[in-house]
Amino acid sequence: MKKAFITGINGQDGSYLTEYLLSLGYDVHGIVRRNSTAENQSARLDDAFDSGRLTTYYGDLLDQGGIERLLDEIQPDEIYNIAAQSHVRVSFDIPQFTVQTNALGVLNILEAYRRSCPNAKFYQASSSEMFGLSVEKDHFQRESTPMNPVSPYGCSKVFGYNITRNYRRAYDLHICNGILFNHESPRRGSNFVTNKVAKAAARIKLGLQEKLELGNMDSYRDWGHSKDYVRAMHMIMQHDIADDFVVSTMETHSVREMCDVVFGHLGLDYNDYVIQNPKYLRPEELPYLRGDSTKIRNTLGWKPTYTFEGMMQEMVDYWLAYFCRHK
Ligand code: GDD
Repeated sequence: MKKAFITGINGQDGSYLTEYLLSLGYDVHGIVRRNSTAENQSARLDDAFDSGRLTTYYGDLLDQGGIERLLDEIQPDEIYNIAAQSHVRVSFDIPQFTVQTNALGVLNILEAYRRSCPNAKFYQASSSEMFGLSVEKDHFQRESTPMNPVSPYGCSKVFGYNITRNYRRAYDLHICNGILFNHESPRRGSNFVTNKVAKAAARIKLGLQEKLELGNMDSYRDWGHSKDYVRAMHMIMQHDIADDFVVSTMETHSVREMCDVVFGHLGLDYNDYVIQNPKYLRPEELPYLRGDSTKIRNTLGWKPTYTFEGMMQEMVDYWLAYFCRHK
């Protein structure tokens, strides 16, 4: 029976990864940050607890001693570091906290891992936001693309990426990076653009809301499904060689196109409902992402199962059902 330790276990990816690992027979352990609303600490994990093989603990990446005690006690086979302040625009509002968590936090857990259970494998959640303004001549970003981040979040993730690669070489540790492009699902926080649009469109359809305010509608993203991407995380960890892989759909769509798909699914025209509010613009924007995931497809045989349209429809249908129940 393998044991996994997950930071950020109550997030979108953490909860899907937990369910996936439980289905493979793992014992899963993870840390949640203490919050005054107890329900928020495990909201996405309620079903997973039924397995009897999931244990959560209070913990925080900024508390290195606490993480080290847990790793000492649990002695996991695999560590997935998915916790982060993950919202790019919010990273401009709270840059120091973002960098402490996403950069220093990685160093804290690396040190705890190196001292407590160096024979475990370690996964670091790296991000396409690290590429920032860099695009190759063929309009893709891939593992060899230079990193040119355009947000405190992107800068913090570059540190996490570099320090994990440094620890891999310096201490001969099995540390891997997944460089994941945007990935969504009904469990996505509803202040990220896909779920914000899906939720608002469902409310508009049901007469619960009139307008939707967005920021920049002309940026492009490579949007996949979180369930496909947690499967990629696990595959990356099972590879004999500790390595770094881009995970992406290889397609790109603008925010505008995404609105068209979502409202179109409900028989609505987004032009009648969406307005722009400068409040949601970023001080510096990343205009275009499209990932080349040839390496993981050829080396590990990973490929996505969801289409962009199918995923967006799943999200809209989730919110329609939700608001019909809570009307
Ligand atoms: N959140 C948000 N809200 N984004 C908006 C809005 C809005 O009202 N209006 C337009 N956008 C645009 C953003 O400016 C951006 O260009 C795009 O929609 C996607 O924004 P997000 O969904 O917030 O995601 P992100 O691309 O900034 O970051 C996500 O993907 C990264 C991987 O590239 C996050 O999940 C990061 O944690 C992740 O690393």
